[in-house]
Amino acid sequence: MGGYIEEREELERRRKPKEEELSVEEELLSRLDPLIEDRFIVEVIRPIKAGKEAVVYCCRAHPSIERELVAAKIFRPPEMRSFKKDGIYRQGREHMGPVDARLLRGLAKKTRGGKLQRFNAWISHEMKTLEILHRAGADVPEPIERHGPVILMEYIGTEEDPAPVLVGVTLGEDEARGIYRRLLNNVDLFLANNRVHSDLSAYNVLYSNGRGVIIDFPQAVDPRYNDDAFDLLVRDIKNLNAYFEDYDMELVDPIEHSLSIWRKHVDPLR
Ligand SMILES: Nc1ncnc2c1ncn2[C@@H]1O[C@H](COP(=O)(O)OP(=O)(O)O)[C@@H](O)[C@H]1O
Ligand SMILES: [Mg+2]
Repeated sequence: MGGYIEEREELERRRKPKEEELSVEEELLSRLDPLIEDRFIVEVIRPIKAGKEAVVYCCRAHPSIERELVAAKIFRPPEMRSFKKDGIYRQGREHMGPVDARLLRGLAKKTRGGKLQRFNAWISHEMKTLEILHRAGADVPEPIERHGPVILMEYIGTEEDPAPVLVGVTLGEDEARGIYRRLLNNVDLFLANNRVHSDLSAYNVLYSNGRGVIIDFPQAVDPRYNDDAFDLLVRDIKNLNAYFEDYDMELVDPIEHSLSIWRKHVDPLR
């Protein structure tokens, strides 16, 4: 057992950090291979954005998908984020003396197993939320397929120009008023379908052909089961207002507006 740990530490010592970083990106990109094999995509065209939790690629769709381009959002598996928690597990092995198998199993569950479970739940939750909201007619990308750590969805933008996030765009005054109203209608529709986005802001709205498309749902909550949902709703509206306050227009009061839609869809007595 000790031999295994030493071997692993030796391996970690020998690995050069730069090589490791590169291989993480390559490793992530390789998560798209099964989608090529299974004929969802034929080619990866380019990365659109690499973030802490996901990397998004523009891909050419297989003819069977009946669209030209698709977006592939690859979630970073927990082992490609941080090894910090793993330390707790190894520390136990090195200093505890005789190994307590049950304790080790418990620790393993809290670290690797538990993380993997949460990782999977996170992706399914974004997929399910996109399905519900798209079916309800909301302005979200159409979800196409979940394949392991990847969600394939409708691609917003053109091959040369992926749609920008709203935060980098300056709208005309009339256009701004129209998009704001429509975003608020979407928030209302989300709530009618038991969802509060919970990370809504001009950073998670794509601007394309004069409309706003709302993205990034893994952290969305269900107001029936989450005690913080109302506060998250208020925060979402505040964050939207923060973008639109630069325009000459009337904004809703975040609390008043949240109360009114909450009474309509969640609890008439609030
Ligand atoms: N369907 C899509 N079409 C075009 N670009 C997208 C699409 N989904 C995401 N993107 C791009 O990828 C970025 C990251 O996606 P997002 O879902 O917000 O994940 P995260 O913010 O967690 O990294 C977005 O800001 C946007 O630029
Ligand atoms: Mg985002």
